[in-house]
Amino acid sequence: MRKVKWGVLGAAKIAVTRVIPAMQLGDCCEIVGIASRDREKAGKAARELGIPKAYGSYEEMLADPEIEAVYNPLPNHLHVPWSVRAAEAGKHVLCEKPIGMNTAEARQLLEARDRTGVAIGEAFMVAVHPQWARIIELVRGGRIGELRSVVGTFSYYNVDPANVRNVREWGGGGLMDIGCYPIKTSRMVFGEEPARVFGAMTRDARLGGVDVLTSAILEYPQGHCVFTCSMQLQQQQSMRFYGTKGRIEPEIPFNATPGGTSRITIDDGRDLTGGGRAVEEFAACDQYTLQGDRFSRAVREGGAVPVTLEDSLRNMAVIDAVVRSAETGKWEKPAGWL
Ligand SMILES: NC(=O)c1ccc[n+]([C@@H]2O[C@H](COP(=O)([O-])OP(=O)(O)OC[C@H]3O[C@@H](n4cnc5c(N)ncnc54)[C@H](OP(=O)(O)O)[C@@H]3O)[C@@H](O)[C@H]2O)c1
Repeated sequence: MRKVKWGVLGAAKIAVTRVIPAMQLGDCCEIVGIASRDREKAGKAARELGIPKAYGSYEEMLADPEIEAVYNPLPNHLHVPWSVRAAEAGKHVLCEKPIGMNTAEARQLLEARDRTGVAIGEAFMVAVHPQWARIIELVRGGRIGELRSVVGTFSYYNVDPANVRNVREWGGGGLMDIGCYPIKTSRMVFGEEPARVFGAMTRDARLGGVDVLTSAILEYPQGHCVFTCSMQLQQQQSMRFYGTKGRIEPEIPFNATPGGTSRITIDDGRDLTGGGRAVEEFAACDQYTLQGDRFSRAVREGGAVPVTLEDSLRNMAVIDAVVRSAETGKWEKPAGWL
């Protein structure tokens, strides 16, 4: 397959440290250019990463006919506007999570995709990691009986007011940044949508009111997911899937070590000290490489991108409902995704 020629919108930390190096290792991606609001910053990133072209504005990169696809790692409030502009320039778009500021805004991407005919998808890299395909296979195959309960945590400590995550009007806050992962992975494994959700949020007035501690209950037809996410707790991530006959847990659910092996534990629960525990290990891989290659194949060969916009809108609708519930103090139904 001829490699897809990619351009990157913004010299974002996630792009320069993780996603670009990983895509460069893939079979299907060629990173041709990187754009920054600051030409020198773009040039430095290009030199360091061996990228041939650097642009001093996003517009300049979108006007380059050599760029076929764009990776958008801008702050959350710029996901939809710049992805729409990229689509209108005829570029395919892989856009960082969360897909937008809310479901209503994200719907613009569906319209842009259908109007322009380009591929647009969310960069929810966990969706392509083999450990999740295996967890889904084991759960659907009945290995833990009937899945009834999912319990997740995701946290880190970041009180830097200059960080994009601590700017509320840019889509900051823990739910948007990391709460989206327990929502996404519980939806993946249940294979259905929560009918209603309940949320509680603690906001930090010193940081403009971003949510720094959010907990939610997602009520699925088959069972419950409860999760807590926080930008002001020690670094932690876990997802535990409890069934009537056992439990499955990935060692590192979301930020699997790039190029490292991954493990999941399956416990049949015969005793509380691990007597029924089995560990499955996965060959070393990088979920960002897999994501870039899968997206590029969809561009060249047709077929679905790894995370479709329809799926992203459903995830966003759950995020919106958690926010609404935290405000109303009532259960809220995810809505408005199609
Ligand atoms: N999938 C994952 O594993 C993962 C991990 C981390 C982050 N993310 C997502 O990636 C995105 C970026 O996160 P990050 O931590 O890499 O952020 P970051 O380092 O702050 O990068 C954001 C970039 O956006 C550009 N930008 C444009 N307008 C801006 C503005 N008004 N303020 C600040 N920056 C602006 C800047 O690039 P220029 O100055 O070069 O124009 C900046 O470098 C977020 O949406 C986040 O959710 C995903």
